[in-house]
Amino acid sequence: MANRCLCCEQPLEEEGRYHPKCLKALWGKATAPKISFAAKDLPEKVTTSTDHMSISGVQAKALVRLNRDSGELEFAPTGSTHILKPEPNEYPDLPAMENACMVMAETIGMNVPPHGLFPLSDGRLCYIIKRFDRTEDGGKIQSETMYQLLGSTDKYEGSLESIGKAIRAHAENVGLDTVDFFERVLFCFLIGNGDMHLKNWAFLIRDKKASLAPAYDFVSSKVYLKKETDSALMISAKKNKLKRSDFERFAAYLKIDSKAAANSFEKMKNAREKFRELAIFSELNPSKRQDLEDVLAERFKRLFS
Ligand SMILES: Nc1ncnc2c1ncn2[C@@H]1O[C@H](COP(=O)(O)OP(=O)(O)OP(=O)(O)O)[C@@H](O)[C@H]1O
Ligand SMILES: [Mg+2]
Repeated sequence: MANRCLCCEQPLEEEGRYHPKCLKALWGKATAPKISFAAKDLPEKVTTSTDHMSISGVQAKALVRLNRDSGELEFAPTGSTHILKPEPNEYPDLPAMENACMVMAETIGMNVPPHGLFPLSDGRLCYIIKRFDRTEDGGKIQSETMYQLLGSTDKYEGSLESIGKAIRAHAENVGLDTVDFFERVLFCFLIGNGDMHLKNWAFLIRDKKASLAPAYDFVSSKVYLKKETDSALMISAKKNKLKRSDFERFAAYLKIDSKAAANSFEKMKNAREKFRELAIFSELNPSKRQDLEDVLAERFKRLFS
């Protein structure tokens, strides 16, 4: 069986662990950065929030950039171009989980920044994603999370309808972003991502025009937390026991016409086999691969049978 690329998770024809074009998209050149630090060397985390049993807030992350002269990856509190998320002790394989989920999103055409898995000096894989709020020449693009925009004080407090409303009120291209948002909501339900709180949705603002930021932080939290809710935020006034009719009502609330909503459901349904393949051939350990496939099976059944 061919090795798979640690970025796109598709088979590799060549030697090594990456497609050159995947490295190019992520680093601007076809070589992987040298990483001479381990998770324990990460700069100390500034915030902690343990009031919720959730994956976010537990995880350390680092702002990094590639030093073009030395080829080394370095910490960059300012001037970073990428975000690095190591494997938390509490959640084994989380980087591989995030990479697999982001690849799934890409296969259905979602806007996903370049990302991949890279070994730290201790051999453990971390997940790295290119920042979508930086230009190629290091400039800043304003981004605003829904937590900021809605003036929230609790990222788990609120509804997906309120995000839909914000998109309607502020997005430059309401129709496009609304369907995109709806499809991300369906997708997150299907992969068992119950952690899409207000800080995991954002706008990018360019020339005073807002658009939904690319996707980030897609993980199947359900694989790790058996009691995880179906949704981090309310949808049709609930977070659990979501059914197809809840999502249909949600689409109607978002003013997506029924034909377009049906297309979105169909798109998800058609991705079933691809998602299975990506779960099974992912970098997850075999038992987690199966756990992910089990979550997918249960969710697809709930939405499509
Ligand atoms: N590719 C990206 N480009 C720019 N900003 C990003 C990107 N990915 C994530 N972010 C920002 O960084 C924050 C943290 O990233 P992420 O959500 O992936 O990590 P997390 O550990 O789940 O953090 P949190 O506990 O804040 O949810 C996000 O809320 C978002 O504002
Ligand atoms: Mg997050």
